Amino acid sequence: MIYEIRKYPDPILKQMAQPVTEFGEPLMALIADMFETMYARNGVGLAAPQIGISRQLCVIDPNAGKEDEPARTIVLINPRIIERSGEVRCEEGCLSVPGYYAEVQRSAHIIIHSDTPDGGEMELVATDFLAIICQHEMDHLTGNLFLDRIGSVERDLIKRKIKKAVREGNYA
Ligand code: NI
Repeated sequence: MIYEIRKYPDPILKQMAQPVTEFGEPLMALIADMFETMYARNGVGLAAPQIGISRQLCVIDPNAGKEDEPARTIVLINPRIIERSGEVRCEEGCLSVPGYYAEVQRSAHIIIHSDTPDGGEMELVATDFLAIICQHEMDHLTGNLFLDRIGSVERDLIKRKIKKAVREGNYA
């Protein structure tokens, strides 16, 4: 099932997501739907609040859209970053802010502790592009968008452009 993507300024995107407490089949079905939705929208990551579910859950595939690379599906549940180092800057976009991009600074290397869909635990070591995606998606779980990670001048400019686009019916 492909979900509709909630877009800025939908208030659910500003909420702190609740922890996932139910594991097993229903959660796995939701995860499958999230991957289906993410691939259908050509994303490399999708967080549950983006489909209107305020839970600490995101799906990631850094190889999405790369013809010559196998899928690398990653699921983060109640994730937290336990180590971080280095800095990297990269232009980011977001399925919830379609058509707008900005350069964001992130940690270059992170270690994430996460629950697994069957109720276990795991650690994920992520660097560079994967680290950027993980930090972007985890931001969604605390009510932050990449727009909240850039300077106020650039942020206000993008927000004004979006308001105008919404008024004119041009916000995808
Ligand atoms: Ni996003």
